[in-house]
Amino acid sequence: MCGIVGAIARRNVAKILLEGLSRLEYRGYDSSGVAINNLDGVSSHRAVGKVQALRDKFTAEPLDGKIGIAHTRWATHGKPTEANAHPHFSGEDLALVHNGIIENHEPLRRELKAKGYEFKSETDTEVIVHLIHDALKTEPDLLKAVQNVLTKLHGAFAIGVVKNDENGRFIAARKGSPLVVGVGIEENFIASDQLALLHVTDQFIFLEEGDVVELTRDQVTIFDEKGEVQERPISVFNHNVDATDKGEFRHYMMKEIYEQSSVISACLEGRISETKVLTSCFGAESEFLKDIENVHIVACGTSYHAGMVAKYWIEDLAGIPCSVEVASEYRYRKVAVPKKTLFLTLSQSGETADTLAALRMAKELGYLTTLAICNVPSSTLVRESALTLLTNAGPEIGVASTKAFTTQLTALLITSVAIAVENGLSAEKEQELVQAMRSLPAYINDALAQDAHIKVIADRFANKHNALFLGRGTMFPIALEGSLKLKEISYIHAEAYPAGELKHGPLALVDEDMPIIALVPHNDMLDKLKSNLQEVAARGGELYVFADKETDLHNEDNIVFTEVPKVDRILEPIVHTIPLQLLSYHVAVVKGTDVDQPRNLAKSVTVE
Ligand code: F6R
Repeated sequence: MCGIVGAIARRNVAKILLEGLSRLEYRGYDSSGVAINNLDGVSSHRAVGKVQALRDKFTAEPLDGKIGIAHTRWATHGKPTEANAHPHFSGEDLALVHNGIIENHEPLRRELKAKGYEFKSETDTEVIVHLIHDALKTEPDLLKAVQNVLTKLHGAFAIGVVKNDENGRFIAARKGSPLVVGVGIEENFIASDQLALLHVTDQFIFLEEGDVVELTRDQVTIFDEKGEVQERPISVFNHNVDATDKGEFRHYMMKEIYEQSSVISACLEGRISETKVLTSCFGAESEFLKDIENVHIVACGTSYHAGMVAKYWIEDLAGIPCSVEVASEYRYRKVAVPKKTLFLTLSQSGETADTLAALRMAKELGYLTTLAICNVPSSTLVRESALTLLTNAGPEIGVASTKAFTTQLTALLITSVAIAVENGLSAEKEQELVQAMRSLPAYINDALAQDAHIKVIADRFANKHNALFLGRGTMFPIALEGSLKLKEISYIHAEAYPAGELKHGPLALVDEDMPIIALVPHNDMLDKLKSNLQEVAARGGELYVFADKETDLHNEDNIVFTEVPKVDRILEPIVHTIPLQLLSYHVAVVKGTDVDQPRNLAKSVTVE
């Protein structure tokens, strides 16, 4: 959802900004731009397409300067054109980059037009830079002018502003969109994500809602919403920088699929003993577990699918009601909250606008407490939730979520068992579940062993336009996740149904052109699922069955069989996810799509 970077240094900042943009490309990649402030004025390059197009412009015509701001865009207002690419200017001297959405841009635009301002783009952003220009007529101090303008904006923003005669500083601010300050030695930076700055610093300050920052080479001064100077702590980044490197893999997505065994180990580490779930992983206030009588899970996209699996686990193991809802619906309806309900959010990024809005709403609704299962320790979701369980998946760069999903499931399994223990789960059953969890990393590796086989069957999907995924029980959300992965990166229309629903409508779609992907673990639903498969086979559908050996399913005329390891029932949704990730990856590679940065999408959805 757009990424911004800014820098002030004693050296030329152009390279720092371009590298930062490349690292932020996962947030949006339809156009990008840089504005550099030097003694001659503010100069800029903008380009449509990926950051490489902008780099090409710098190669043809280098820009040099010691203060600069940069942006990579995911279009919301206006098409991906050069005119709509950031930075936006008011006059020649004032430039701005913005991530977020200004909801009241239309009345503001009308006001500015009445004052004689001309708009060169269709973006909501351009109003901000003209407003600052206008404010500077009565308040010549850039910092104060920015502070005044921010009070007029409704919506979400993170901004960076440079002005030509301000050679010793630049200004940034955030409200509703993420922004970190990177602290260097005689140089300071801003970015939408600390990953964008790991090549220049590992020291970060996480800004709070409404913060405005003045950055000079030697100092970072933070003002809160009331304009009062605030000290915010510096955190040191503790991930390996190499996590942002593709290594031997052709795509980040494949690297991240293969990392799952080790990141699931990292997610389990310190959270389970030989026999128990260690409730200390929820922090000092883990007593909340014994009071929970209901759970509401709220999330978006892939994270929502993880929540759907957890509903089965919580109701099955703990015997308490659990509801799951997409955040964009939850936040706009009147929610009835039963007493002693845990509000649980799931998010890879911790910056998803709808999930954050849902959390903020939930905090007013009398929940027992709020728990975030999240991958980014410094995210807004983590900071605003009472309790956190980190998924420890490390940075996920591929836009289609893989390791973030399976670690969410792992963290949810830990949470479900912890809640169940307080609701009468026997010590013996707890030990059995914990031991199953300990074998999870090995099962993931076993599932990955099917990679070469899945690559072969992926060829058969290259000319398909539709696909249908089927599962029952916890396999239904996994079918949904498999279909989401396929559509996201290979652009094949895919749907998922609980297999028992087939005869209630979707069966009409089945013919020899429709691949049906069925998830068939050997459990008590097996016979029912086999009957559903018969219904498909009888109509000439081509079946791709992902099942363990004990199901007694195998390659037949109209069945393409892929073996999935036989695992404890509780682990089935996690292990069955792996072949579906591999399938969508290989189909996308065969189709030649942009695997890591599929069209129209962005990694972190910080707008509504
Ligand atoms: C799909 C995907 C998205 C995200 C969704 C929520 O592969 O990654 O569906 O799951 O945008 O994002 P987070 O988990 O960051 O809140």
